[in-house]
Amino acid sequence: MYLCVCRAVRECEVDYAIDQGCRTFKDISEQTGCSKECGQCAQTVKCYIDQRFESFLGEIHSV
Ligand code: FES
Repeated sequence: MYLCVCRAVRECEVDYAIDQGCRTFKDISEQTGCSKECGQCAQTVKCYIDQRFESFLGEIHSV
């Protein structure tokens, strides 16, 4: 699924950026190019990043 239509950035590309060490929206925007045009995707990308980190923290706490 595309998170950023203008730059054709998919969830898997954001996942890859996170796996490569990006930890902030700014980092991910710099790496993937998302939110560099109209900016309509910014909130969606931020929510997606939050969900990824919440999921990761949930996995840590369940161990
Ligand atoms: S939808 Fe991401 S910059 Fe336009």
